[in-house]
Amino acid sequence: MLNIPLPDSTFKDLRDYIYEKSGIYVADTKKYLIENRLSRILLEKKINNFEDYLKLIKFSGNGNELNRLFDAVTTNETYFFREFDQLKIFSDEIMPKILSQKKGSQVIKIWSAACSTGEEPYTLAIMLLEKGLNPKQFEIYGSDLSEGALNTAKTAVYSSYSVRNVPAYYMNKYFSISNQSYILSASAKKTVNFMKINLIDDKNIRMLRNVDVIFCRNVLIYFDVKSKQKATSHLYDCLNPGGYLLIGSSESLHNITRAFKPNVLNKVIAYQKV
Ligand SMILES: C[S@@+](CC[C@H](N)C(=O)[O-])C[C@H]1O[C@@H](n2cnc3c(N)ncnc32)[C@H](O)[C@@H]1O
Repeated sequence: MLNIPLPDSTFKDLRDYIYEKSGIYVADTKKYLIENRLSRILLEKKINNFEDYLKLIKFSGNGNELNRLFDAVTTNETYFFREFDQLKIFSDEIMPKILSQKKGSQVIKIWSAACSTGEEPYTLAIMLLEKGLNPKQFEIYGSDLSEGALNTAKTAVYSSYSVRNVPAYYMNKYFSISNQSYILSASAKKTVNFMKINLIDDKNIRMLRNVDVIFCRNVLIYFDVKSKQKATSHLYDCLNPGGYLLIGSSESLHNITRAFKPNVLNKVIAYQKV
């Protein structure tokens, strides 16, 4: 497929627009990627140039077009049991603390913010079920900006790539295989609720409150400092006092915010709202 040329000035306008709407900063080095991914959409819609495409996105008032743009610029890489050291700290250290603080009927709220295609919140569901928690004791939310990713998450049918790190015992217990696809069991699937939340949108972010643990992993890397500050301040507001924020192990809140107390638990940093 031949790409439609994306002039530098239009790339910059497109980049500003993407940044304004999602907080994602598209570096100059990613221009080719954007040109490549978006050319498909332009060809399909029989739009001859990127200037007309930008006008369509900005002025059509059509949310679907914006969603497709987000889908084209976001990286949805994820898989079950990613960054296992962190998950173990969640299960062995953080959960027992939260369980001991909760009284009787209080439900534990866990949020996988920027969950992509759902592997992360479903992993958390499997871990909580394996800890012997009753599904009535917890609520797990998965959110993302990308509707395409969320639709995949809701179907809960995965490729061998996604499940490659699932321990054999969990694989037998929580997945069935059909036509080389891995279908998550209903027992884990039904414990996760999905919603579209843009982490830098002041209104969107109010959808979840009183959360005990937030996983926001491998998304801040796509933001510049200003967007990181906005997103982390939003996440802070969503947490219960004493609640935890886990970001990707290659990410840091250094120079972003001092609002959280960093707890180092077996080399894993768990940020706490104090
Ligand atoms: C690499 S995936 C991370 C998935 C998962 N958290 C993990 O670590 O495996 C990054 C996700 O961030 C989402 N994303 C990017 N900008 C966002 C925003 N402003 N609000 C919410 N989600 C966003 C993308 O759609 C993508 O699905």
